[in-house]
Amino acid sequence: MSNRTPIIAGNWKMYKTTSEASAYTAEFLGLVAGVTGVEMVLCPPFTCLAEVRRQTDNSPVRIAAQNMHFAPEGAFTGEVSAPMLKEIGVTDVILGHSERREFFCENDEDLAKKVAVAIEAGIRPILCIGETDAEREAGKTEEKLRGQIEGGLAGIDADMLAGMVIAYEPIWAIGTGKTATPEIAQQAIGFIREALTGRFGAGAAGRVRILYGGSVKPDNISELMAEEDIDGALVGGASLKAGSFAQIVKFS
Ligand code: PGA
Repeated sequence: MSNRTPIIAGNWKMYKTTSEASAYTAEFLGLVAGVTGVEMVLCPPFTCLAEVRRQTDNSPVRIAAQNMHFAPEGAFTGEVSAPMLKEIGVTDVILGHSERREFFCENDEDLAKKVAVAIEAGIRPILCIGETDAEREAGKTEEKLRGQIEGGLAGIDADMLAGMVIAYEPIWAIGTGKTATPEIAQQAIGFIREALTGRFGAGAAGRVRILYGGSVKPDNISELMAEEDIDGALVGGASLKAGSFAQIVKFS
């Protein structure tokens, strides 16, 4: 672990109604009271963002949406914009999660617009990148990551980079119980930081937080966090219970 402040984010995906979210949040806040030195982010579905925000108002917990459109408003049925999220106190937004890329046709070109719009709106993007099993087997991991970095960050400069977060999520590790070993995660994240250094310079690349995501649990978080370039975790399944997510937050 470096001197960058770690971030632990819980991606609830399409789980939890507002009443379930509210009960979770009350329990979670109790469990993490007094925790310092780590940024905590809850990423609920759109329907409970405002309620979870209200409940966490007097806490350090940050709130992320799981997606966002790049236009400020318009005839885009089913979409939500940066100003809408900003007004209810959303601080972060997950962009380009592999499930969005796979099931909702998200592409790097649109993601580049979303990343730039979010930063300009004062919402911190958490841009997800990662390779499939087949790409890893074919030795194409670095090529895939480089392409996603170049594509997804096309519209930003070094100053903007420092204000965002990148999550390395190998698709073969998401929801499969097959966590990347700390070595594999470090290797990929080290490569991402190197690619960012080439494009934005060592200063900005050294400041940006890069998270690992994919089957993170209370029993593997410490070994992942021990790696030099891993600055935190984006947690799916194990974030759905307040107790297990709080354990992950308190990894050290
Ligand atoms: P998982 O999901 O922790 O359930 O593997 C991670 C993610 O999709 O962000």
